Amino acid sequence: MNLEQEFYNVFKSAPTLSYKAPARINLIGEHIDYNGGRVLPCAISSYIRAFVSKRDDDIISAHSLNIRTTHSIHLSQIQYDKENDWCNYVFGIFYVLRQMGYSIPHGLNILINSEIPVGSGLSSSAALLVLICYIANDIYDLKINLKNIAKIAVKCENEFCGLKCGIMDEAAIALGLRNKCLLLDCSKFEYEYIDLDLGKYAFVVLKTNKPRALVESKYNKRVEECEKGLAILKEHYQIDNLCQLNVEELDNVRKLIKDDIIYKRVKHVISENDRVYEFVRALNKRDMHMLSTLLDASHQSLKEDYEVTGIHLDTIVDAAKAAGALGARMTGAGFGGCAIALIDRSTFIEFKEKVEEYYFQKLNIMPEVFSIDIVDGPSHEYDF
Ligand code: GLA
Repeated sequence: MNLEQEFYNVFKSAPTLSYKAPARINLIGEHIDYNGGRVLPCAISSYIRAFVSKRDDDIISAHSLNIRTTHSIHLSQIQYDKENDWCNYVFGIFYVLRQMGYSIPHGLNILINSEIPVGSGLSSSAALLVLICYIANDIYDLKINLKNIAKIAVKCENEFCGLKCGIMDEAAIALGLRNKCLLLDCSKFEYEYIDLDLGKYAFVVLKTNKPRALVESKYNKRVEECEKGLAILKEHYQIDNLCQLNVEELDNVRKLIKDDIIYKRVKHVISENDRVYEFVRALNKRDMHMLSTLLDASHQSLKEDYEVTGIHLDTIVDAAKAAGALGARMTGAGFGGCAIALIDRSTFIEFKEKVEEYYFQKLNIMPEVFSIDIVDGPSHEYDF
């Protein structure tokens, strides 16, 4: 597809600039960001791109090549509108920037093309939000750093788009660094980079291709269950979030939380947060055995205690293990989407075939298995 030509067809003028932003995976620390703990994501080599040109008026006009729709709006008239669908993620950024007092002196034409599959748990929507904020920052010279670009993108997703997600996805995308993962403390938004060069081993992505289901309501339910657990525990502990408790407290927590479901959710959160620390220690020592054990334990906890995996993710993780993965787990929100597996790079082709065969035999759906590079965050690609 010639994107310059596509741009011309839609906007009857030529693009002047182009940008891209990556997708993300989370290595471990799932459903932890909104519970104030630590997560370990990284940006991966699957991109959303935008071609852009400046307009003389105050209209933002955006076209998606994936969905083949165009939406346009005056900067001063932006508000959330269901009819605007995916474009709320574009308009919302301009809305939030203006609300924060940034000057947006003119409109833009924006053509979007994404290779990040929607609803796959690789954060296509966070990538779009970060991309648009990065573009606005560059074109209007707003002098916002990458950390604050992530914050603005989260603010937009929470307040404009109405999703209760945490900060992990936007941070992973905005702050991505080649061959590094981000150890992110979500309560303070502090982070450090951990080296992810695993020599002959690598992470690969396994896409379940489960038909898209409504994830948002189930996600929000888990957020609420954690809030209930926290409210009970706050009567006994001086804590602001669940991740301030460690696994040694679990016996006591079991006595305090009578509701079995709420206890299971809290148990996942506390044990998963602990696994992040263990995982970082194992990464620093290149202890593949420990990394694998932790990946498997994380999936098990998300399956049994947090109950966000489901048949597709469980089967693909079983397939990965049967095909020789050292460890495997779901990544992202769950309920479908993608898993990751740690494998010996040299076995990739055989591994992929085995996973496809196993998964297809069980579910009659062809999965996708792909290798990834760990990459930098958003960038300005070309000046035309
Ligand atoms: C989604 C959310 C993130 C995070 C993960 C689960 O990707 O957007 O904020 O909560 O689920 O770890």
